[in-house]
Amino acid sequence: MERSIQALRIDGARLWDSLMAMASIGATPAGGCNRQALTDEDKQGRDLFVRWCREIGCEIRVDRMGNIFARRAGTEAGIAPVITGSHLDTQPTGGKFDGVYGVLAGLEVLRTLEDKGIKTRAPLELVVWTNEEGARFSPAMIGSGVWAGEFTLEYAHSRADKSGKTIGEELARIGYLGELAPEPGPVTAAFEAHIEQGPILEKQNETIGVVTGVQGIRWYDVTFRGKPCHAGPTPMADRRDPVQALAILCERLYSEVKAYSDDARMTCGDLRAEPGSRNTVPEKVVLALDLRHPKPDGLEHLHRTLYRLAEQVEEAAGVTIDVREEWHSPPVQFDESCVAAVSAAVERLGYSHRKMVSGAGHDSVYVSRVAPVSMIFVPCAGGLSHNEAEFAEPAHLEAGCNVLMHAMLDRAGI
Ligand code: GLV
Ligand code: MN
Ligand code: MN
Ligand code: MN
Repeated sequence: MERSIQALRIDGARLWDSLMAMASIGATPAGGCNRQALTDEDKQGRDLFVRWCREIGCEIRVDRMGNIFARRAGTEAGIAPVITGSHLDTQPTGGKFDGVYGVLAGLEVLRTLEDKGIKTRAPLELVVWTNEEGARFSPAMIGSGVWAGEFTLEYAHSRADKSGKTIGEELARIGYLGELAPEPGPVTAAFEAHIEQGPILEKQNETIGVVTGVQGIRWYDVTFRGKPCHAGPTPMADRRDPVQALAILCERLYSEVKAYSDDARMTCGDLRAEPGSRNTVPEKVVLALDLRHPKPDGLEHLHRTLYRLAEQVEEAAGVTIDVREEWHSPPVQFDESCVAAVSAAVERLGYSHRKMVSGAGHDSVYVSRVAPVSMIFVPCAGGLSHNEAEFAEPAHLEAGCNVLMHAMLDRAGI
């Protein structure tokens, strides 16, 4: 690689300013962001992104899943693009960096190349994927999932939020139901920069995580049905209380998951009781459950444990328990040549680093079904994410963006 290219660096201050400008859309009083998928705030964030990309001459296309593709032309015809990107949607009490960093790090790479007049042989494509978080609409990563062929467009468009509004309706409402069929053409390579969302890099005092894969995730809706009755006169022994059954099942499952392996994860992220009145034993409780493990057999073990315990508790508590699997994203290993491109970029730039497996799901999981992929992690304070206090150091964000740029240049050619 030429010396002038080797010395090329992104503008860390401009990256930070863009992150803060995007964070003002959906800003929460506690310093975080609530820019859930396909809300008015998401539309504002998308509009700002599109404006920024047009300012540097990118061509914008939007597909029928609302995925936005901003393309910077290459110099050689017939070479597939190198893509990068992530998501602009957030958790209800999300931070300023999860997802947004990967989008705006990609933008900063394109801005830097534009400033310096550097053209790549392959086109570069910056993507905003729709509804990565899965917070408003389940499942997560559905925009990249449709694009990669994991879900049909009809299935995705019919997914509804808690108020019954569907992805299809909301895409049309905010003006991001594009014309393009969501399907991949050939891709030379794909990279996604992201905050780690866990504590490893910070604890080890390392700047970059070279991501070799993503652990597996299984999502369930577990419905407990009992008998509604009065909170006062009904003796405890006469009740069929779905909340008590839920408590017993959760307690047993937590114990077994913790005893099984340090790598296993269990999260009860949402609970809904119906009819939802303090002085009525609920008729029904629905638990939104998330199980994770980096190995397929480990995840399968957790899955079986859930069904076994649900059957046991159902019998003992006199409450029906229906376990419905909502989503399964098996563990993924990224492409060796893309991992090597990230490693080589980190080595050249001289940042401390380690190889690691992602604990969080990412659009790269589905992108990896159809293209060679790797990811770049940077530390976040206290390993905290999906929290309004989420924070990452400007110097780390800058370093990750430099790695992204050099990995992309390596694959795109000059
Ligand atoms: C998405 O943020 C996930 O990892 O669940
Ligand atoms: Mn994310
Ligand atoms: Mn997230
Ligand atoms: Mn995620």
